[in-house]
Amino acid sequence: MTRYRNTWAEIDLGAIRYNLKQLKRLLPKDREIMGVVKADGYGHGSVEVAETLIEEGVRYLMVAYLEEAIKLREHGIKEPIFVIGRVPPQFAQTAVDYDVELNVFQAEWIKEALEHGFDGVLSIHLEFETGFNRTGIRSLEDLREIVKQIEAASGKIKIVGAYTHFATADEIDSEHYNHQKTTYEKMLKELNRLYKGPIMTHIGNSAAGIQYPEDMRQFTRFGISLYGLYPSKAIKSLNKVTLKQAFSLFSELIEVKKISPGEYIGYGRTYQAEEEEWIGTVPIGYADGWPRALQGFHVLIGGKKQPIVGRICMDMMMVKLDRPYSVGEKVTLIGKSGAEEITVDDVADYLNTINYEVPCMITSRVPREYVNRKVD
Ligand SMILES: Cc1ncc(COP(=O)(O)O)c(C=O)c1O
Repeated sequence: MTRYRNTWAEIDLGAIRYNLKQLKRLLPKDREIMGVVKADGYGHGSVEVAETLIEEGVRYLMVAYLEEAIKLREHGIKEPIFVIGRVPPQFAQTAVDYDVELNVFQAEWIKEALEHGFDGVLSIHLEFETGFNRTGIRSLEDLREIVKQIEAASGKIKIVGAYTHFATADEIDSEHYNHQKTTYEKMLKELNRLYKGPIMTHIGNSAAGIQYPEDMRQFTRFGISLYGLYPSKAIKSLNKVTLKQAFSLFSELIEVKKISPGEYIGYGRTYQAEEEEWIGTVPIGYADGWPRALQGFHVLIGGKKQPIVGRICMDMMMVKLDRPYSVGEKVTLIGKSGAEEITVDDVADYLNTINYEVPCMITSRVPREYVNRKVD
């Protein structure tokens, strides 16, 4: 497809392949990876990432919403897909039709899904609430009630998985993690007592998978680490795995000019030149997910840091240049330029947020271009 604009995100699928290999190496041999591609593959492109993971042997995917699962199916992805969000019970039929597995944690949900009615068999994972308090079955009593309702549905609903999610696996202190793990095991024991049939188990995200690989159940739900980002600075400092960032963001100068001392830049005149200065205009703005809060941060041009001056507009921003560059000169917003690099973590730190948010916040208005570099 023609790219008309001068701004693009470059996604290195080679880095994703590399990260997958490193994570696999960490886990005991008999464990598998569920590739988390929700939020359009954390902004990297869910279809392209899913296809890459599948090529490399991943045989389970996870998304957050039914729409995200349908998109994968419509692109020909056949592997099992687990949806962690609460899909409204009236869409059970859609889940069956698209062969998508749902997260269930309420007896009421089962009742409503059966009342709406659906043809075929619905596959579900039960979520155990163990200390995160987002969604999940809160007690053994609630678990028994849910299993009772499933048994009463005469084979229309099949439990295929049982899982939980950790609140603090990205911290070094393991107390709460251990509490959650023990609670999960207790609930799983009860489920195995009540329900006959193979149930796949999965508890860990990237942080748990990297920090406690031996504890991981059949599957580990790796998200952020597949994209080459560490779930926290604490996990990175463990030095257990080397990851390669897959996301870069580039643009090109569309105007270069010399301004005089005393001239202002942009909305609100928040920047005033003290001397003669070279100013470049870059076609990216907050509607692309490059927020106004990045005023004062920098980009790289010609391997050098160039500060963002004045307010970031909806579609453009201005940078102060160390010398006159040509229109069309490459601008690196995230990635490498010469010996310099701006990482996703650098942007996250400047915004006082976590790296997860950065590729997710770059909107679909920024085209994703794919490369497949070999990482050695
Ligand atoms: C239930 C669940 N599992 C796994 C993940 C993947 O987590 P991470 O990206 O930290 O690997 C998420 C992400 O938010 C999640 O909500």
